[in-house]
Amino acid sequence: MADIQSLKQALAFSPENVPLLLMLGEAYLDQFSFEEARAAYDSALKVDPANAQARVQIARLLDLDGRGSEAILRLEQLCDESPNFAPAWMLRASFSLNEGRAREAREFYERGVALDPSVKNEDLLKRIRQAGGVRSAEDARDAVPQRGGDRQAAAYFDPEFEEDDFDDDFDDHELEIEFEQRPDVDFARVGGMEPVKEDIRMKILYPLENRELFEAYGKKAGGGVLLYGPPGCGKTLISRATAGEIRAKFLSVGLHQILDMWIGKSEEKLHEIFELARRQAPAVLFFDEVDALAADRKDMRTSAGRTLINQFLAELDGEASRNEGVLVLGATNAPWHLDSAFLRPGRFDRLVFVPPPDEPAREEIIRIMAKGKPVAGLDPAALAKKVKDFSGADLKAVFDLAIEGALSEAMRTGKIVPVTQKDLLRAAKTVKPSTLKWFESARNYALYANQSGFYDDILHYLGIQK
Ligand SMILES: Nc1ncnc2c1ncn2[C@@H]1O[C@H](COP(=O)(O)OP(=O)(O)OP(=O)(O)O)[C@@H](O)[C@H]1O
Ligand SMILES: [Mg+2]
Repeated sequence: MADIQSLKQALAFSPENVPLLLMLGEAYLDQFSFEEARAAYDSALKVDPANAQARVQIARLLDLDGRGSEAILRLEQLCDESPNFAPAWMLRASFSLNEGRAREAREFYERGVALDPSVKNEDLLKRIRQAGGVRSAEDARDAVPQRGGDRQAAAYFDPEFEEDDFDDDFDDHELEIEFEQRPDVDFARVGGMEPVKEDIRMKILYPLENRELFEAYGKKAGGGVLLYGPPGCGKTLISRATAGEIRAKFLSVGLHQILDMWIGKSEEKLHEIFELARRQAPAVLFFDEVDALAADRKDMRTSAGRTLINQFLAELDGEASRNEGVLVLGATNAPWHLDSAFLRPGRFDRLVFVPPPDEPAREEIIRIMAKGKPVAGLDPAALAKKVKDFSGADLKAVFDLAIEGALSEAMRTGKIVPVTQKDLLRAAKTVKPSTLKWFESARNYALYANQSGFYDDILHYLGIQK
């Protein structure tokens, strides 16, 4: 990976150097700093408005940001204007695949590879094949060599023999391996977040420990908690830690995964996943990016579709489907995209805001992160003061940067040097807090779409409401 720091230095001397800007964008993408990546590509376009590479990457970033329609629109435009740019066709292939148009995906894929064989992407091709985007007899043969010979023969002799016949029985061991038997993190590894921890304890830990007492009050362990908030503040982490804390199994499901992998059979797979969790109770069933389910009905291109949503709601409805001992956790950066049907009692009936860590929480996170690392003279409280608005992920970036610095120093001098408070402070200066941006849009939803006071926590956090 190109070193961001040195790229920036180089750019300070030649700010209009497009190849450098593209490299910077790439480096940011590699470390998932999407906003910075976007800024780099935008700068490249300012100098060279037709730059195809920058345009492809912006489409990719838009898609990652949940703006699928805009992404596709821009990409189509690019393919019209620069039809010989192979990476654009590859990205288009993956967009088409995500929308369930496997055969179209295949066409785009082939077009890209024909233009430039070096863009080949085995992984994408495999997914296209699994989704049924197998077109010719020849493809059919090398796509599924393990399948029965007569099928291959059929495919070989009958060019019309195609997709539906191929995707009906690939095995779902993927389902099983997702279960981490017991995550190695527990609440102690999560700094701050006390209210969230308490909510989760109340919802599952205490009912499990005091079964009879809770039954006397007609309460059972289980149900759903929806975690929402700015990126990098520990939603995924606390979900894994919950499973660790209660010694439960942990099943993490990306909804995009269900949508991509089992096109046309998503409902069935979703049911199987819930069944698997029920059999393994106590279990934590975690749906990351749960908004993908509802990724805007206004944006039908990326929507999961009504039937999948209904299936999900039916599975959540405890009564009908015996969810005792299964804690369903969902996480999202965009709760406002969720259908309010998700938030009814028995479904995600606790909406829990996961804010950026406050100062004491940051101090705790810093302590947790320094543990087991070669750090000397650390003053967590002083550092915590200097990193206002930083998310846990931002703090991790600070540590990573400082450690990288110490490492290259060690390699240069041959002497092991610990990371110091000063290194960390210096690193902190170069990391930008990533939570502020989220509040810009969250604020509007909280102010203008705050039905039933769902987002009071955000207003409270922003000091708009007591
Ligand atoms: N409270 C915390 N305590 C310790 N580490 C944290 C905490 N919050 C975040 N981190 C660190 O930041 C990383 C990213 O956090 P995590 O993936 O849980 O964020 P998230 O809220 O799920 O973000 P996103 O919305 O982008 O999915 C974690 O792996 C961990 O290293
Ligand atoms: Mg997450």
